Amino acid sequence: MVPAPLPLDDQSWLLVLTGAGVSAESGVPTFRGIDGLWRNFPVEQVASPEGFDADPAQVWEFYSERRARAQDVLPNPGHAALAAVEVRLGERFLLVTQNVDGLHRRAGSSRLVELHGNLFTSRCSKCARPPFPDTTVYPAGSVPSCDVCGARLRPHIVWFGEMLDERSLATIQAFLERAQGSPLFFLAAGTSGAVYPAAGLVDVARRGGAKSWLVNAEPADNAHHFDTVVRGKSGELLPLLLGV
Ligand code: OAD
Repeated sequence: MVPAPLPLDDQSWLLVLTGAGVSAESGVPTFRGIDGLWRNFPVEQVASPEGFDADPAQVWEFYSERRARAQDVLPNPGHAALAAVEVRLGERFLLVTQNVDGLHRRAGSSRLVELHGNLFTSRCSKCARPPFPDTTVYPAGSVPSCDVCGARLRPHIVWFGEMLDERSLATIQAFLERAQGSPLFFLAAGTSGAVYPAAGLVDVARRGGAKSWLVNAEPADNAHHFDTVVRGKSGELLPLLLGV
């Protein structure tokens, strides 16, 4: 059955949350599920400060491989639909992504919050040098060091046990405040609803008066928090739901 599009008009505000499933049709592996990354690479080994302290070379090998893979793929029609609806809604649109692969930006999205960081950005693990663009795929076994202080570099990714950037949360909060009094829609796509605070964004948006939609290939952990759940692939469903 073809889902009805969201009833967006020239007063509507739209907040979108995406997860790894949105990039799956581009060939980027998701985290959970049958071929999920966390099956072969336990979270605590490659996505935690403790894992980095224990074996920084393994962590860099994991993220270097993901860099190589993400550079090799293209945005899909789901990414394109979100970029197109941003053009239509302008400042009444905000895209919050848990993805670090850069595909939303490559598809043209710019009103974008990268909640969990960016795969193509590194930072020093010690000094105050600001995060910087870094597309390098480091050779296995190596750990890059900071040009300023010599300490280890690390990927600019929010690992388990770390706080989200306050600026990301402030941007979302400001968007919801500006939307008050207007029709507000919340759409989540390709996310298992297993990782907080992102999984709680639907509840925040609903408290702000949003009607909520979820598009996911399998049942998400927080599916019962949404008004409407559409099961299927985001690359096929987002263009239909967004009418672009
Ligand atoms: P997950 O891997 O947990 O979930 C991806 C979801 O996408 C699953 O529920 C799939 O059913 C669904 N899915 C797969 N292919 C799809 C498709 N073509 N269309 C629609 N849905 C599809 O990914 P996230 O929810 O993004 O954090 O995971 C959240 C965070 O956990 C990630 O940002 C990452 C991870 O640990 C960090 O690395 C910090």
